[in-house]
Amino acid sequence: MTRDFIAATDRPLLEAAGLADFDALWQRELAAVERPNTGRGGGWSSVCRLDLPGQEYFLKRQSNHLTRSFAHPFGEPTFAREFRNIRRYAERQVPALCAAFFGMRKVANERRAILLTRALSGWRDLAGWLADWPQYPPETRAQLLDACGLLARRLHAARLTHCCFYPHHIFVRAEEDGFATCLIDLEKSRSLHLRRERIRDLEQFLRYAPQLSEAEINRFFARYLNAPTNAPEIDRWRQWLAKRQQKKGVPPRTPSFVDVGHQDGDDQHQYPGQIEPEQKNG
Ligand SMILES: Nc1ncnc2c1ncn2[C@@H]1O[C@H](COP(=O)(O)OP(=O)(O)O)[C@@H](O)[C@H]1O
Ligand SMILES: [Mg+2]
Repeated sequence: MTRDFIAATDRPLLEAAGLADFDALWQRELAAVERPNTGRGGGWSSVCRLDLPGQEYFLKRQSNHLTRSFAHPFGEPTFAREFRNIRRYAERQVPALCAAFFGMRKVANERRAILLTRALSGWRDLAGWLADWPQYPPETRAQLLDACGLLARRLHAARLTHCCFYPHHIFVRAEEDGFATCLIDLEKSRSLHLRRERIRDLEQFLRYAPQLSEAEINRFFARYLNAPTNAPEIDRWRQWLAKRQQKKGVPPRTPSFVDVGHQDGDDQHQYPGQIEPEQKNG
């Protein structure tokens, strides 16, 4: 058993609530915020909200929800990877959520894991902003796009790819002179090596932002590339992105596309009219 991680700042509060240990967190009855994920070898993974006096948390619990890798050929709980990524993002100064508790247990044939993170209270995910997009003044929209373009730039400059860079994983908060951003759901994130990995993140972002005008997309790219909005590079990046969409059968941008159910999980999407099976790492 690896030692549990408990953040020093959260320990007193968790202890006061009798929740500073794995079993207490595992047993705490709470309503799930969304339907639990199932499917990985009979395992499951759930997300609940935990409200303690003065601090809200998200409690993620999973059983036999494993991911295999070269280093872990028999699999490890996906939260182990997410927790490592939370630390990596902090080290590389890419804004992301904070862990309060992480632990793993083996119970008979079951592998359990818990990841408790501090809730981003007072923040709102970009999907929420996009849902009301037309009601914001152009200046606010430009600031939001600047913040997201800069976030993508910082992420990739830190040699990281998020792999689920969807608007609902990007949290945003108004500041005095613009917006701060913060990433969540780092489970699939890994080291960045190739340009196509950058394109994948950007494509995921734009796929679920059909509200953006052409000029707004250019603005996002300008910030990402740290270039003027009329820079020829932007066209080049947009062409690469279009090529990826074509290869993956993503239909041209239409507002109705936002209604197609999205799920996490590395682009395992079925698009309307998609015929070819997905090719990995296109
Ligand atoms: N620390 C957090 N602060 C705010 N919202 C969160 C936090 N953690 C999770 N959530 C909310 O719960 C949802 C599910 O969490 P996520 O980490 O994406 O789990 P999953 O891996 O099951 O997709 C997120 O889309 C977000 O709305
Ligand atoms: Mg998610």
